[in-house]
Amino acid sequence: MDAAEFRRRGREMVDYIADYLENIEQRPVYPDVEPGYLRTLIPTEAPTEPESYEDIIKDVERVIMPGVTHWHSPYFFAYYAAASSYPAMLADMLCTAIGCIGFSWAASPACTELETVMLDWLGKMLNLPDHFIAGTHGHGGGVIQGTASEATLMSLLAARCKAVRHVQASKPEKSEGTIISELVAYTSEQAHSSVERAALIGGVVMRKVPTDNNYTVVGDALKKMVEEDKAAGLIPFYFCATLGTTPSCAFDRITELGPLCNKENMWMHIDAAYAGSAFICPEFRPLLNGVEFADSFNFNPHKWLLVNFDCSALWVKKRADIIGAFKMEPLYLKHENQESGLVTDYRHWQIPLGRRFRSLKMWFVFRMYGLSGIQAHIRKQVALAKEFESLVRADQRFEICAEVIMGLVCFRLKGSNERNQNLLKRINTNREIHLVPCQLSGSFVLRFAICSRATESRHIQQAWRHITQMTFELLQEPSH
Ligand SMILES: Cc1ncc(COP(=O)(O)O)c(C=O)c1O
Repeated sequence: MDAAEFRRRGREMVDYIADYLENIEQRPVYPDVEPGYLRTLIPTEAPTEPESYEDIIKDVERVIMPGVTHWHSPYFFAYYAAASSYPAMLADMLCTAIGCIGFSWAASPACTELETVMLDWLGKMLNLPDHFIAGTHGHGGGVIQGTASEATLMSLLAARCKAVRHVQASKPEKSEGTIISELVAYTSEQAHSSVERAALIGGVVMRKVPTDNNYTVVGDALKKMVEEDKAAGLIPFYFCATLGTTPSCAFDRITELGPLCNKENMWMHIDAAYAGSAFICPEFRPLLNGVEFADSFNFNPHKWLLVNFDCSALWVKKRADIIGAFKMEPLYLKHENQESGLVTDYRHWQIPLGRRFRSLKMWFVFRMYGLSGIQAHIRKQVALAKEFESLVRADQRFEICAEVIMGLVCFRLKGSNERNQNLLKRINTNREIHLVPCQLSGSFVLRFAICSRATESRHIQQAWRHITQMTFELLQEPSH
């Protein structure tokens, strides 16, 4: 393919994408395929001779689309949102074309510098405390990670390194291995599985803190566990708070937890993977109060901020903590400007070496929507969740299972878990809408998350009609 053909095919591809997204609601949101479906549709070996572009593009509809779960369908209500917008898609094209691997400032100065400035812009949109803003003289700053899972792991590893150094400063005879075996990390029992996974990878014990009736961790619950562990000779070193838990979008009380962590010399990381985007709206910003006590804070613009995957924003209070934990300096990666105070080498802030020019997506989205446009998107989706909540509340057969604060509604049919499992099965088998469940206080609960940028009130009304129809059919069965 030469540049002339690329121009032609590129235009066709943009048309295909625009058609796909404009007409996405005509497609069943969830695919009707069995495991292994794709292997039977394509050859077992790569072609020896080149094939035509026409043949490949034909196969997109034949092979790929039947097995796609359409995350951007207005009838997709599962998990949490995956962001999507045209400016981000265009920026992603440019990112791919530039194709730099921006691990250091020298490896592509624009890639590094735009990222630092975009994380500052976003930090200011969230009204983060000054110590998270890099500016030209700050000690903190932001970085784009691939996912919230990586951000949590980075924070845990940085905290582990800091804790080991702290203990060794007064007890140099203690080995790193011994200290690590005495460290204890904490997170909510409602935290995302990636937090527990970070502890597994980091080789430290992690204890789950029980939540209150609102699925929130409060200060006293953590305090009790920390005191028990200290009395047993262990070293509490890390707490991962969640703002917007995955099951029910609950918020840990960081105004209590933060001061406790600071007093106990524990690193507080905040995982706000989904809900973080909403903090750009002044009405939601109070939920972030207490962030001033955190050592690191993360959320995913690729969930709710109109920036397509991947783009997970992590800020640290002291960048020396994170850089100091992972620094490697082979000669081939060094460059003459690396000691300049104005230079960030992001390779020290992450696990992989390679990194894409992801800040372009933020730059395009922030400029084309403006803060007001992104706020409008968040507010619209919260309003749609409230609309769905009212429909559920008006039907006596159902109950709401957690306070609806953002774009997630947790609800269930009154009655047994089995009844709700069967209802969900019916809903998803029918493929008109797609939902996933969660467990809250031992109950099987249906999660209805507003996900797609294309979802409007009519889709909410249609989804509810569908749920009530499935409920009607279920309740006709003698066993229910
Ligand atoms: C609270 C929370 N943390 C972490 C994650 C994991 O996000 P990622 O896929 O970016 O690792 C999720 C995913 O939904 C989440 O809801």
